[in-house]
Amino acid sequence: MTIIQLDNNHSLLLFIFLVGLSNWSIFVETSSYNVVNFGGKGDGTTDSTQAFQMAWANACASTEKVTIYVPRGRYYIKNVTFSGPCNNKGIIFRIDGTLEAPSDFVVIGNSEAWILFRHVDGITILGGNLDGHGAALWACKNSSYNTLCPTGATTLEFSNSKNVVINNLKSLNSQMFHITINGCKNVIIKGLRVSASSNSPNTDGIHVQSSSNVTIINSKIGTGDDCISVGPGISNLQIENISCGPGHGISIGSLGKDVTEIGVQNVTVKNVVFSRTKNGVRIKTWGKPSNGFATNIIFQHIVMNNVHNPIVIDQNYCPTHKACPGKASGIKISNVTYQDIHGTSTTTVAIMFDCSPTNPCIGIKLENISLTYKNQTTEARCYNARGVVVGQVQPTACF
Ligand SMILES: *[C@@H]1O[C@H](CO)[C@@H](O)[C@H](O)[C@H]1NC(C)=O
Ligand SMILES: *[C@@H]1O[C@H](CO)[C@@H](O)[C@H](O)[C@H]1NC(C)=O
Ligand SMILES: *[C@@H]1O[C@H](CO)[C@@H](O)[C@H](O)[C@H]1NC(C)=O
Ligand SMILES: *[C@@H]1O[C@H](CO)[C@@H](O)[C@H](O)[C@H]1NC(C)=O
Ligand SMILES: *[C@@H]1O[C@H](CO)[C@@H](O)[C@H](O)[C@H]1NC(C)=O
Ligand SMILES: *[C@@H]1O[C@H](CO)[C@@H](O)[C@H](O)[C@H]1NC(C)=O
Ligand SMILES: *[C@@H]1O[C@H](CO)[C@@H](O)[C@H](O)[C@H]1NC(C)=O
Ligand SMILES: *[C@@H]1O[C@H](CO)[C@@H](O)[C@H](O)[C@H]1NC(C)=O
Repeated sequence: MTIIQLDNNHSLLLFIFLVGLSNWSIFVETSSYNVVNFGGKGDGTTDSTQAFQMAWANACASTEKVTIYVPRGRYYIKNVTFSGPCNNKGIIFRIDGTLEAPSDFVVIGNSEAWILFRHVDGITILGGNLDGHGAALWACKNSSYNTLCPTGATTLEFSNSKNVVINNLKSLNSQMFHITINGCKNVIIKGLRVSASSNSPNTDGIHVQSSSNVTIINSKIGTGDDCISVGPGISNLQIENISCGPGHGISIGSLGKDVTEIGVQNVTVKNVVFSRTKNGVRIKTWGKPSNGFATNIIFQHIVMNNVHNPIVIDQNYCPTHKACPGKASGIKISNVTYQDIHGTSTTTVAIMFDCSPTNPCIGIKLENISLTYKNQTTEARCYNARGVVVGQVQPTACF
């Protein structure tokens, strides 16, 4: 940069001008790869998969922070993998348009994910609509020829990545899970909208596993399975300001499917409204041996609107009633706090703690709970559960 000798006022102006210029260049002059320049077409029919892949290859090769830009329009995309490691730690995927999965579910139905990011450090998805066109696959799974249907793809998956931000994304009608976070560190999901029919199978809103430091905030999830499901190997997960429904609620588990499993610890779920969901807050483990655990879990400031099973610990999960020798879960559940939870249940049993006979739940705390059924009191049931009650708790605790 050339230094020009000026009087004080002018050098200040020049300084402001240069600062302005450098800010400007951050937004405009940093390389921006528009998928349209790689042959992408927002006409809803042209296969734009390769254009997206080429934009990614360029962005990932860049040694500076870059933006991949998807303008308005409907972009038909087959299953695609965006792989790192990249030469920079700051790719922004700014999506003003809609990405459309093939309407023929077979095209992506056998891949793990429709849109997969892996081994990426520093990636932001900004905006965007993802339409998984899952309805035809759900119908297939619901039909008499269901054994011929593919499993289905997760709409958006991040695996083995870190410093991931998903901001203001909308995901519609996924074949399977809408978003999966697997093997990641430092993830923020905010302003997410998930929408799928209440009878769509396995369409979890967000599934997280084997990850640490994940925040899910300010989001609205309505789907046919869990709004959020938490698998093994999770530590430091914050879930806050979520509206859930329809769906199966927020679930830690299923845990303990495998004998050797990494535990779940430090999970906070707060300021959540459940509306007409099958469950509210649930911890679910297989009824079989495992060395896993779930500890330091807090559910607080939660509203239940006509929820079937508002508060549940179920350690006897065994869907096929096979392969559960002894039927006692090895998962150790401890230090689970329920605070300020109120609203309505659609069944009389509003709290169910069905814990393992060999590994009872310990350190459960119930504080300020009020759950009613048809304007009447509800019931709590405990099996192998130990804990304390603080403040007003209705239904009466059963420890
Ligand atoms: C798409 O999925 C198929 C399996 O259904 C897989 O063979 C193929 O490699 C995937 N393509 C990409 C780019 O991930
Ligand atoms: C599956 O079939 C049942 C019974 O016909 C129906 O009630 C349900 O809505 C169907 N689900 C889907 C996803 O089509
Ligand atoms: C957790 O993630 C956030 C955002 O990704 C980051 O700012 C923070 O430093 C991380 N915390 C730890 C302990 O790594
Ligand atoms: C909670 O999330 C909704 C979006 O679902 C947002 O509109 C609202 O502002 C958030 N509330 C707070 C306190 O951030
Ligand atoms: C869980 O939280 C506790 C208390 O905040 C902290 O000491 C511990 O390091 C956390 N565990 C992990 C795995 O980060
Ligand atoms: C459970 O909480 C108690 C008291 O806060 C603490 O002493 C204990 O270490 C915690 N247990 C686990 C497994 O974190
Ligand atoms: C429980 O209720 C008491 C009395 O209203 C209040 O002081 C306390 O802060 C409440 N605790 C929580 C966690 O909401
Ligand atoms: C509950 O009680 C309120 C007033 O006490 C009444 O308006 C409402 O209809 C009742 N709801 C049910 C489901 O009985």
